[in-house]
Amino acid sequence: MPSIQACLFDLDGVIVDTAQFHYIAWREMAQDLGFDLTREENERLKGISRMESLEIVLSIGGVELSEDEKIHRATVKNTRYLELCMQMTSDDALPGVREFLDELKQNQIPSGLGSASKNAKVILERIDMLHYFDTIVDGTRITKGKPDPQVFLMGASDLKVAPEHCAVFEDAVAGIQSANAAGMFSVGIGEPSVLTEADIVVPGFEGFGLAQLENA
Ligand code: BG6
Ligand code: MG
Repeated sequence: MPSIQACLFDLDGVIVDTAQFHYIAWREMAQDLGFDLTREENERLKGISRMESLEIVLSIGGVELSEDEKIHRATVKNTRYLELCMQMTSDDALPGVREFLDELKQNQIPSGLGSASKNAKVILERIDMLHYFDTIVDGTRITKGKPDPQVFLMGASDLKVAPEHCAVFEDAVAGIQSANAAGMFSVGIGEPSVLTEADIVVPGFEGFGLAQLENA
């Protein structure tokens, strides 16, 4: 593996466990429309933009809505999602992630956020982690969602580091594909059986550090 000069992080499911809140809010919408959304089906929504996620959920339920209704449903889902997120505190960062970000800082390795979420800054502020990131690429900046590499290429460009010297931390299949398409080293956070395309997969950041990354 080439030496790593920058690390790019997905937000939901990597820095903080907001993936469960996305699931709750989409599931409530589905149930309101008369069908259920399973955890397995929810995997397909990870890393995918709000409106694309809505289309996937509606297709699972075989429901058709007008454009106005879609915007309304997405707004209701987001309001509910943010309501759930506001229960979080600075203790809600996933275990080990702060320690790893501290280690990067101590080693002058810049960190960037690469997320499809339009709520990224609000969430990072909520858990008091905005200051860790030298750049934020979020759903308000990108025009092409994961698995397109745009989000991570923008992050690398902001940090002035060549893609081949970047590592990406991702919990979503679409996010790993995005990192791989960008020519970066992809670290899956989760299950090897799900993140089959990642260069390496770890269960989380506990016990993970630069030494593990460099020896991968
Ligand atoms: C991604 C999540 O980080 O952000 C997706 O994995 C979500 O599940 C997407 O749909 C968009 O998020 P938001 O906060 O803009 O609705
Ligand atoms: Mg994610």
